[in-house]
Amino acid sequence: MAKIHLKTTKKRAEKEIKKSKNLIELNQIFKRYLGKQGKVSQILGSLAKMSEKKRLKMSKEANELKAFLILELDAKTQEIKEEVRKSAEEAEWVDITIPGKKPVFGHLHPLTQTKKKIEEIFQSMGFSVIDGPEIETEWYNFDALNIPKDHPARDMWDTFYLKTGLLLRTHTSPVQVRYIERRNPPLKIIVPGRIFRHEATDASHEINFYQVEGLMLDKEVSVANFKAVIEEFFKKFFEKDINIRLRPSYFPFTEPSFEIDLSCPICSGKECSVCKQTGWIEIMGSGMIHPNVLKNSGLNPRNWQGFAFGMGLDRLTMIKYKINDIRLFYSGDLRFLNQF
Ligand code: PHE
Repeated sequence: MAKIHLKTTKKRAEKEIKKSKNLIELNQIFKRYLGKQGKVSQILGSLAKMSEKKRLKMSKEANELKAFLILELDAKTQEIKEEVRKSAEEAEWVDITIPGKKPVFGHLHPLTQTKKKIEEIFQSMGFSVIDGPEIETEWYNFDALNIPKDHPARDMWDTFYLKTGLLLRTHTSPVQVRYIERRNPPLKIIVPGRIFRHEATDASHEINFYQVEGLMLDKEVSVANFKAVIEEFFKKFFEKDINIRLRPSYFPFTEPSFEIDLSCPICSGKECSVCKQTGWIEIMGSGMIHPNVLKNSGLNPRNWQGFAFGMGLDRLTMIKYKINDIRLFYSGDLRFLNQF
């Protein structure tokens, strides 16, 4: 009876193991036969009650069955694990010979590229890059720069005033005063930054755009120094020989003041639409810092002198890349931006 019992147990277990599909099922089979309450364990547990002869025979056979089942379960476990590994391998298979998908990278805005290039060139000439506030006081934007209230020169900059009495800076020149106040000369700085003008927009006018202010202050700085620095800058910026010319001009915060013209980098003076057939492009305002500005910044104008300039970053970028509408920079139009 017991013998038959062992045999059928073995057969049934073998069948179940064969049929099992995963490790959970196998684990259940193990419990059913070899676990504490398992069938084989029960048989082994009941040996004590048997006669000696029967016990010897039964214990041998039951232990053999136990060893057999352990081996079978082990083999099946390996088999299932191998299957799982194989199907995972198939599912995760990657053809490394297929060309990859190129991730789409963003890129720097053309104005940012110009700003970086300008900074690089001036830094190579020993200038530091300085920042200033976009919301300014009337004092720094005008008065300190020798433009008192009611002075007609204020008309040169159409200004956005805030309800607080502050204003949106109309140029980067206020940073001249802010910087000289805090530092002792000699000073060599540029100030790239955003500025605001209350203007009607068109292809060459925006209400917000960018300027780069420059300032060099020392005991003996001359117009010749200015011309050398600025000519070197344009050569490096346009990567070609550039001539400049100084035209007398007027700014309240410089004396004398100049307007700087650039020999057209597009047609090299041969006359094109960018230079309006003149061979020259008006590029920036400049001059020797007015004694009143130095006084207002806390310096004695007898001891110090220097030059300052302010140029349009948008305008420089437009000339370099032959862009005919300033509004494109602020349109967010990817058809335009992706060209840079
Ligand atoms: N701030 C002047 C402008 O916005 C430019 C300038 C800067 C002129 C420095 C002279 C010196 O037009």
